Amino acid sequence: MKALLVFVVWAQLSSSRAEPSPQPIAPLLLDSTNCNDSNTIKVSGLALQEINRNRREGYIYNLVSIRSALKQSQGNAGMVYYLTLGVDETECHVLSRKDWRSCESRMFHQSVAGECNATLHINNLERIVCLHDYNCSLTSADRRTVSEICPDCPIDRDDKENESSINSANKALTNYNQNSNNTKYFNLLNVTKYSFQGMFFEAHFVEFTIVETACSKKQTVKNLSKCKPLAPGVAQFGFCKASVQIVNMKDGTTVTCELYQPEEYRDLNHPDHCRNQALIEQLPRDPRAMRKGQTSGMPTFMQMNETAENLVVLPYFPLKRSSSSSCPYSVGGTNSIR
Ligand SMILES: *[C@@H]1O[C@H](CO)[C@@H](O)[C@H](O)[C@H]1NC(C)=O
Ligand SMILES: *[C@@H]1O[C@H](CO)[C@@H](O)[C@H](O)[C@H]1NC(C)=O
Ligand SMILES: *[C@@H]1O[C@H](CO)[C@@H](O)[C@H](O)[C@H]1NC(C)=O
Ligand SMILES: *[C@@H]1O[C@H](CO)[C@@H](O)[C@H](O)[C@H]1NC(C)=O
Ligand SMILES: *[C@@H]1O[C@H](CO)[C@@H](O)[C@H](O)[C@H]1NC(C)=O
Ligand SMILES: *[C@@H]1O[C@H](CO)[C@@H](O)[C@H](O)[C@H]1NC(C)=O
Ligand SMILES: *[C@@H]1O[C@H](CO)[C@@H](O)[C@H](O)[C@H]1NC(C)=O
Ligand SMILES: *[C@@H]1O[C@H](CO)[C@@H](O)[C@H](O)[C@H]1NC(C)=O
Repeated sequence: MKALLVFVVWAQLSSSRAEPSPQPIAPLLLDSTNCNDSNTIKVSGLALQEINRNRREGYIYNLVSIRSALKQSQGNAGMVYYLTLGVDETECHVLSRKDWRSCESRMFHQSVAGECNATLHINNLERIVCLHDYNCSLTSADRRTVSEICPDCPIDRDDKENESSINSANKALTNYNQNSNNTKYFNLLNVTKYSFQGMFFEAHFVEFTIVETACSKKQTVKNLSKCKPLAPGVAQFGFCKASVQIVNMKDGTTVTCELYQPEEYRDLNHPDHCRNQALIEQLPRDPRAMRKGQTSGMPTFMQMNETAENLVVLPYFPLKRSSSSSCPYSVGGTNSIR
C-alpha cells in the first residue's frame, strides 16, 4: 500500500541491447493540474472519446465532471494524464460510434452515472493520443427514489434478457423487418434496456441491438433464428428503440432503428489503437506484473523508442487524487462542452 503512495518513479534504462549507452531518466513526478483549465477539459474530452470508441457494449458516456487530473511530464515524449471523470450514460449506443457531445444524457428516471479512471498519453508533436488503460464504474438511479418521485415512470429492469423483454424485442423486430426496405433480414443481438409500465395500461419499452443476416428479404423466412448473421466486417449492425403495447385492442407496436456500417472495433488489446502505432506497448493490467530486471523496486513501465524517448506510464492508477481546489470541476451540466 505504501509503495503505491509514492509518486516518484525512477526509471532506468534496461535495454537488452548495449547501444545507445543507457542514460538515467529524471524522476517523473505526478503533478496536480487544475480541473477547470481549458487544456484539462480538452484532454478529458479526448479521453472520454477514446473510452467510448473502445467499448463494445452499452451506451456512450457523457462527461459530467472532472474529479481529478494528475499529469506526468515525459519530456520529449509528451505528457501522461491520470484522469478521474464523472460520467453518465446517454441515449446513444456505442455501436453508433457517435461523438459523446452529440448524445443526450438519459432522463432522471433512467439515469446511470459513475466515474471512469483513464490513463492517457498525449504527444502533440508526434500527434499521439493513446488511451493506455481505463476502468469505469456506473450505477443506476436508486429504484425506490425514482418511484417515490415519479410513481408512473417506467423503471429499468436489471433482468434485461428476461422472457418478456426478448418477446417484446422480437415482436418489434418482426415489425421492423416487415416495414423497412433493407435487402436482408436483421436478427436480434442483445436487449440493452427494458422497462415495463403496468399501472394504467401495459407497455413494454425495449432497446436492442440487431445484426444483418444472410437471409434475403426476397425469400420467406418462417423462423428468423435459422438466419445466420453475416460475418463481422460485412454485417451491418443496428440499434432499435421500441414500445410494444396494445392500443384500442390493436397492436400499437412502434419501433425505430438506426443502422451502422460494418464496424471496426478498436481494442486496447491491440497496439494499433494508438494513433501513432509503433510507439506504444500494452501495459500489464496487474501492477504486480512488473518487469523483471528492474533495478529500482518501483513498479515502472518503460517503452524504448527513438521517437517516443523513454515514455514511462504507471502500471496502476494513482490512489492519490488531484489536490487542486479546482477539482472536482463540474463541466456544467449535460452536454455543455462542445
Ligand atoms: C474497476 O473498478 C471496479 C470498481 O471500482 C473494481 O472493482 C475493479 O477491480 C476495477 N478493475 C480494474 C481492472 O482496475
Ligand atoms: C420479466 O419481466 C416482466 C415484466 O417486468 C415480469 O413481469 C416477469 O416476471 C419477468 N420474468 C422473469 C422470468 O423474471
Ligand atoms: C426505402 O428506400 C428508399 C430509397 O432507398 C428510401 O428513400 C426510403 O426512406 C426507404 N424507406 C424506409 C422505410 O426505410
Ligand atoms: C450479447 O449477446 C451475445 C451473443 O448472444 C452474448 O455473448 C453477450 O454476452 C450479450 N451481451 C450482453 C451485454 O448481454
Ligand atoms: C425457431 O427455431 C429455434 C431453433 O431452431 C427454435 O428453438 C424455436 O422454437 C423456433 N421458433 C418458432 C417460432 O418456430
Ligand atoms: C520507434 O517508432 C518509430 C515510429 O513508429 C519506428 O519507425 C521505429 O522503428 C521505432 N524504433 C524502435 C527502436 O522501436
Ligand atoms: C479510480 O481510482 C481510484 C484511486 O485509485 C479508486 O479509488 C477508484 O475505485 C477507481 N475507480 C474505478 C472506476 O476504477
Ligand atoms: C479554476 O479554479 C481555481 C481555484 O478554484 C480558480 O482560482 C480559477 O480562477 C479557476 N480558473 C478558471 C479558468 O475558471
